[in-house]
Amino acid sequence: MNQGASSFSAVPLFCLLFLASFSSSQLDYKFYDKTCPNLAKIVRYGVWSAIANETRLAASILRLHFHDCFVNGCEGSILLDGSSEFTGEKNALPNRNSARGFEVIDSIKANVEKACPSTVSCTDILTIASRDAVFLAGGPFWPVPLGRRDGLTANETAANTDLPSPFEPLEDITAKFISKGLDVKDMVVLSGKRLAIILHLFVN
Ligand SMILES: *[C@@H]1O[C@H](CO)[C@@H](O)[C@H](O)[C@H]1NC(C)=O
Ligand SMILES: *[C@@H]1O[C@H](CO)[C@@H](O)[C@H](O)[C@H]1NC(C)=O
Repeated sequence: MNQGASSFSAVPLFCLLFLASFSSSQLDYKFYDKTCPNLAKIVRYGVWSAIANETRLAASILRLHFHDCFVNGCEGSILLDGSSEFTGEKNALPNRNSARGFEVIDSIKANVEKACPSTVSCTDILTIASRDAVFLAGGPFWPVPLGRRDGLTANETAANTDLPSPFEPLEDITAKFISKGLDVKDMVVLSGKRLAIILHLFVN
């Protein structure tokens, strides 16, 4: 255990409830249709009320999702606080003092738990919430296939090395996006998203 790990409180909220009890690896648009039919409404309402109070959260939520998925895939690792076994990614340089919106996801998760206990993963909630944040900010809408499982660990080192930094040369940043199956357009969209969303809100 190092300094970073010990300075964090214990593990998180509900996210560790979802261990490896699901074996499906296939994502499905109807994954929770029977088990949590109101999921979409609950997430949409949570994102809407957060953005209604503070518009900047739309960009923050999308950035959380991007920073989650960039490090070992979309498994919710960014949402985990550190424990005695691992150091969280929240404190990695690209996230420290800049990753925000955790409380929005926590509050949506609490509402989802009330409606359908131990059913929906935190990473699926974050994935739907980012789509809704973009859509509610006036951006495009896309269908989200579901069924991601939450990871049990996080990796601060990987967050520090995998996530793009504003101090890196453009070629290095581009290479990082390409290594994740994204392209230059994705890079521009995700790097400029905060500005883009703010501009959109302004224009509308
Ligand atoms: C609304 O946003 C402000 C920051 O802009 C925050 O301090 C406050 O807690 C938020 N209120 C709610 C109900 O989320
Ligand atoms: C964390 O990530 C680093 C860099 O990608 C890797 O070398 C290391 O093995 C990972 N640690 C664990 C516990 O997976």
